[in-house]
Amino acid sequence: TAPITLSTLAKYKKQGEKFSCLTCYDASFAYLMAQAGIDVILVGDSLGMVVQGQASTLPVTVADMVYHTANVARANRHALIMTDLPFMSYATLPDAIASSRAVMQAGANMVKIEGGSELADTVKVLTDNGVPVCVHLGLTPQSVNVLGGYKVQGKTDTQADKLLKDCEVLVNAGAGMIVLECVPAKLAKAVTERFAVPVIGIGAGVDTDGQVLVMHDMLGVYTQKVAKFVKDFLKDDGNETGDILGAFVNFHQAVKNKTFPSVEHTFH
Ligand code: KIV
Ligand code: NA
Repeated sequence: TAPITLSTLAKYKKQGEKFSCLTCYDASFAYLMAQAGIDVILVGDSLGMVVQGQASTLPVTVADMVYHTANVARANRHALIMTDLPFMSYATLPDAIASSRAVMQAGANMVKIEGGSELADTVKVLTDNGVPVCVHLGLTPQSVNVLGGYKVQGKTDTQADKLLKDCEVLVNAGAGMIVLECVPAKLAKAVTERFAVPVIGIGAGVDTDGQVLVMHDMLGVYTQKVAKFVKDFLKDDGNETGDILGAFVNFHQAVKNKTFPSVEHTFH
C-alpha cells in the first residue's frame, strides 16, 4: 500500500475515515506495524519510560530521538513517521531548528512539540523550512512538573476555551496536526470539528480523527501505571493471545470502525 502522507490524512478527515497511530521505537516493531497497516508511527519521547526506564520524559535527548527515529525509518514501509522533539530541545528558535533538522534527517516526516499559543513562532519557522509540525495539547507530559502530575486537562469552561484558542493560533501559524491528550471527549470533538487539520486523540474520546496509544501499553507490557484510556489489545476475552501482529491489526480495525475508545476509556 502507498505511503501515508499528510495529504492522505487530510483526505481521510474529509471522508470521515479514522486513522491509527502507535508509538514505535525500533525496526522490528515498525515492520510489524507496516504489515498491520498502522497509518502513523509516533517515535514518542515516551521511550524515556518504556525503553529507558526513566520516571518521566524529561531525561530524553535529541540524540535518543535521532537514534530511535533512524531505527524505525529503516523498516518503515507505510506509515507517516512523526517524531517528538524532547524536553527543552525547542525552547528557542535556533534549538527548534537544530533539533528538527536532526530528527528529519534521521527519517521523520513530521515533528511533534508540546504547548499552546506560545509555540506560534516555532511552528511558523519550522513549517516555513519544510518541517511539518504537530502540536500536542491537553496533558503535556514534558510539563508534568508545572501541571503537578498526570491529570485530565481542559475540564473547566475557561480551560476548554483556552485550549480552543491555542489550537486556533497554532493552526493559523501553520500547524499540520494536533494531538490531544487526556481531555474531555466533548472538548476533543469541538477541536476536531473546528479545524481542518487532522486531530489525534489519546484519552480524548472516540470523535477525534485518529487514535494513538503507546505500543507497550496496548500490548500490556508496561505495567508501571496503566491509564484509564489504555486497552490491552494482546488480550482477547481476558486471555493472552501472544499475537503481536494480531494486536496491531485489531487496534487498527477498532480505530477504523470506532469501537475503540469506548466509554470506559473516555473522560467526560
Ligand atoms: O511520547 C508519546 O508516546 C506521546 C503520546 C502519548 C501522544 O507523545
Ligand atoms: Na511524547
